[in-house]
Amino acid sequence: MTQPLHVVILAAGQGSRMKSALPKVLHKVAGRPMLHHVIGTARSLGATGIHGVIGHGADQVREVTPADDIQWALQTEQLGTGHAVAQALPQLPDDARVLILYGDVPLTRQDTLAHLADQVSDQSIGLLTVRLDNPDGYGRILRDADNKVLAIVEQKDASAEQLAVNEVNTGILAVSARHLKDWLPQLSNSNAQGEYYLTDVISMAVERGIEVKVAHPETEYEVQGVNNRLQLAELERWYQLNEARRLMTEGATLADPARVDVRGPLTIGQDITIDINVVFEGEVTLGDGVSIGPNCLIRNASIAKGAVIEANSVIDGAQVGESAHIGPFARLRPGTELARNTKVGNFVETKKAIVGEGSKINHLSYVGDAELGRDVNVGAGTITCNYDGVNKFQTRIGNGVFVGSNSSLVAPVTIAEGATIGAGSTITRDVEPEELAVARGKQRNIQNWQRPRKQ
Ligand code: UD1
Ligand code: MG
Repeated sequence: MTQPLHVVILAAGQGSRMKSALPKVLHKVAGRPMLHHVIGTARSLGATGIHGVIGHGADQVREVTPADDIQWALQTEQLGTGHAVAQALPQLPDDARVLILYGDVPLTRQDTLAHLADQVSDQSIGLLTVRLDNPDGYGRILRDADNKVLAIVEQKDASAEQLAVNEVNTGILAVSARHLKDWLPQLSNSNAQGEYYLTDVISMAVERGIEVKVAHPETEYEVQGVNNRLQLAELERWYQLNEARRLMTEGATLADPARVDVRGPLTIGQDITIDINVVFEGEVTLGDGVSIGPNCLIRNASIAKGAVIEANSVIDGAQVGESAHIGPFARLRPGTELARNTKVGNFVETKKAIVGEGSKINHLSYVGDAELGRDVNVGAGTITCNYDGVNKFQTRIGNGVFVGSNSSLVAPVTIAEGATIGAGSTITRDVEPEELAVARGKQRNIQNWQRPRKQ
């Protein structure tokens, strides 16, 4: 039987180079704290236990990471990576395989880590290394004449010869809990930084005849840590480029793969077209043939097949039906449900609005807390007055209603099927089926009107 996998995530460091009040691991990549990416990866590996070692900003980290599958361990003083892992030791069952990850290394692929974790047994440990053109700052991998790994030497402890090595320690390793419990208490901090180095477990393993099996990531980005905001931006771009590639592979045409940002799970059909500067947030689904114009923000939304979203529209918490036509400059707020063949045009805001098939709200309107039937025409400048300053009320509009331009519908109010509202009306009472309601001042024309003169 394979040993259960436990993941320890180190996240106690301050990250002073971020120059931030926010703990480093809470800075976001693709709209999610880096730490949450790492936790997500740990879950995708099927880890039996996830252990977060926190210190700087511990309360804040716990607060934005509400999860009952994480055991926290507090490292009150940052005495080194070996000391950090030791804080989680009491939480680790002896028979576990332990994979050590970092809260500020957010984008390691699941395959890379699964392969690494597979290297662990009572007789072997797994170490993730990478060759870098510029190994500056990293721990170097020392090998013997047979190319077997002997040890890791930290930059600050390395000789000139060792510094020339360009195979570096990513920091990520996998080792059995039994070994950690044996070795970590034996670490010493007599080194250049006066820290308890986790990396020293490599030479300890070698001394005890335990094999060090090395694995590599597919690309450097996978193991790139974030120390400052420049590196954060680099990882963000790499992540986004990968998302863009995925979308194109799955059947999307992107006007520019460098100008679309995906900050959450985006599911697409085929023949999607996405113009420049489109941002997706949260969970979004796009059906076949959906087209999205430039400068749109689409958050927690599902857009059914054939719908067209024109430039500068914001769609948030809404469902858009088949072949609907939205924008330009439309704003759909949470609770908007548009049926098929609906139209919501420029400078229209909707909120908690259920809109039936074929209905149109084409210009300059606010439709909130409203239910519209089929084939309703809402004229330009129509407002559902849903709020009296304290409570919200519903507006109900039946099938085939025609609302003339610049009308105020004061909720609660019902306009029944087939009714017509004269332009400029303020509707405060229900309107029965097929009625015409006109509620505006009567026009008076005064002849030979003298305008006032300047005195
Ligand atoms: C470490 C490795 C180095 C490797 C590099 C990769 C050691 C001794 N060195 O060096 O070989 O090339 O990572 O980036 O492990 N942390 C804690 N508590 C601590 C110390 C660190 O939680 O007491 C966390 C930090 O928040 C950080 C991570 O561990 O996320 C790495 O610590 P850092 O001090 O950056 O290690 P490096 O010197 O970069
Ligand atoms: Mg570091």
